[in-house]
Amino acid sequence: MKNSDIFNEKFINIDTKSIASKLDNEGFFFIENAFNKNFLDSLLAEINDNKFSVNKNWTSGVYTEKQYYVKHLLGCSKSFYYLSSSSGVFDICDQYFKNEYRLKAFRYYETYYAHKMEWHTDNKIAKKAGNKFSEIPGIIFIVYLDDVEDGEFQYVKGSHKISNVEAYNVYSNKQILDEFKNDVISFKGKKGDLIIYNTYGIHRAKPVINNKNFVRKSLFFQIDSSLSSAEPSLLNPSYFDKMDDKTLKYFGFGLPSESSTYPDSNLNRLPLKIFFKEIFLTYIPYKLPRVIYMMFPNILRKFFKRFLKS
Ligand SMILES: [Fe+2]
Repeated sequence: MKNSDIFNEKFINIDTKSIASKLDNEGFFFIENAFNKNFLDSLLAEINDNKFSVNKNWTSGVYTEKQYYVKHLLGCSKSFYYLSSSSGVFDICDQYFKNEYRLKAFRYYETYYAHKMEWHTDNKIAKKAGNKFSEIPGIIFIVYLDDVEDGEFQYVKGSHKISNVEAYNVYSNKQILDEFKNDVISFKGKKGDLIIYNTYGIHRAKPVINNKNFVRKSLFFQIDSSLSSAEPSLLNPSYFDKMDDKTLKYFGFGLPSESSTYPDSNLNRLPLKIFFKEIFLTYIPYKLPRVIYMMFPNILRKFFKRFLKS
């Protein structure tokens, strides 16, 4: 797939040097309407085809208490494969990293009402073994897949230059307002807007506390300079039509995956609403008539069958 099938001309025509220097100087780069509409529609259709499902023998979405994720995009979305390995993304990475880089994590996610995210940085990576943190330079792409009027991404401008001196990577709201109030940039936006940010910068998604029906839909992918720290990923091999050395390393073929899968979901984290919806709107309407039918004597079942055929 060509760059022009994925991105809008406005984004393609931006010099990658200016994007890399914004990431270095301010910590972020933002562009409205960066994507081709048909591309975003295909991406969303593929994600929707792999939505949450119980007992499905394929990748599917998972719920946590206040969020929904489709994590294994390389197993279910060829559009995501094209985007993540596009020359639009590679050119920015070549300019920014100067050296090797790897796709570390990616996910489609929906955030709901009352989800709380602290101010934090993404550069301190917890490794599975030894529970140690290590600092790894990287950048994150966030694509809005719906208009975002509230609950938007916020970034403390220039904070990537100071956050690495701290021994921790989570900050209270008071601390941010006391120290950086004038540097907080809020990214309200529309479907198709793109934010790229330096993982050393302090950021969060603004919590939504007034609108119970709130949903924010976004695509996230993180690329960093360590070839060993990535989340494990399921993938569909039929997507991978470019197998040069650079691409193989970028997707982590043959390399360790030292990070844990995010989010760590299980049945206990499934929201009650979703549990009841699956049971009462899907499972019972399908199963109950069949169970009752099988309880009838054979002669009656034959009669019903003949009756239904006629
Ligand atoms: Fe983050």
